[in-house]
Amino acid sequence: MNIYCDKSKLNPLKLPRHIGIVMDGNGRWASKKHLPRIAGHRKGVERVQEITEFCGNIGIEALTLFAFSDENWRRPEEEVGGIMGLLRWYIRKEHKRITENNVRFRVIGDRRKLSSDIIELISALEKDTYHNTGMHLCVALSYGSHGEILRAVRKIVEKVKENLIYPDDIDEQIFESCLDTQGLPPLDMFIRTSGEYRVSNFLLWQLAYAELFFNEVLWPDFDTEKLIELLKQYSLRERRFGMTPEQVSLKQNESAIYLKR
Ligand code: FPP
Repeated sequence: MNIYCDKSKLNPLKLPRHIGIVMDGNGRWASKKHLPRIAGHRKGVERVQEITEFCGNIGIEALTLFAFSDENWRRPEEEVGGIMGLLRWYIRKEHKRITENNVRFRVIGDRRKLSSDIIELISALEKDTYHNTGMHLCVALSYGSHGEILRAVRKIVEKVKENLIYPDDIDEQIFESCLDTQGLPPLDMFIRTSGEYRVSNFLLWQLAYAELFFNEVLWPDFDTEKLIELLKQYSLRERRFGMTPEQVSLKQNESAIYLKR
């Protein structure tokens, strides 16, 4: 058994393949401590490092983090500049570690709105980790699900116009292959911190069958212990995908027999 699962008493067979997190509550964390909002984002980046490392160690296949939404561009210029500065700092500082740890890095969202030096840093890290085989670390930046879906629709329309596909060919697989998340495993688990009960335009298509977890902890306080607690709750959920409980348990028994062979 994976030593990290052993230590945290997690069942490796009942872990999600892909986790998506809305890292909310940085501003409130800072206000509570009478600090500027950027101090909350800074602490948030520390949690990103901790949670990413832990997820990689326990064998999570993909982690998608909502770092900056399409809507976040509406925030005061000073805060937007502060978050972008942190991202720049994070990618520069983590480039070597992410590459050497076999992590596959990807940014989803409309990167045309980002400054050119950040685009270059992202592209370099994506290129250098492209052939890695470990966990996908996917950062949603300047991201909104509506925008992503519209980009996918435009790509499909182009394919139809070029006679590469017929309208009747368009199915879920083709649609998914045009989303920013193409190639990632299905989203199994959605987490939002800070006691907000919204999905806020995050991975709307991908959320179709994800298990949802909303919790009160502010992102800068969200540590490995908290994640382990949620992963244990996840392992107890019965995911039926439209089937009956009997069909689900039959399927589980069949795969248990298959695994024993
Ligand atoms: C939400 O908290 C958080 C954000 C809008 C930014 C999140 C960014 C980071 C954690 C840093 C960059 C990430 C990476 C991957 C390096 P909020 O400001 O909305 O908090 P509030 O609701 O308490 O005001």
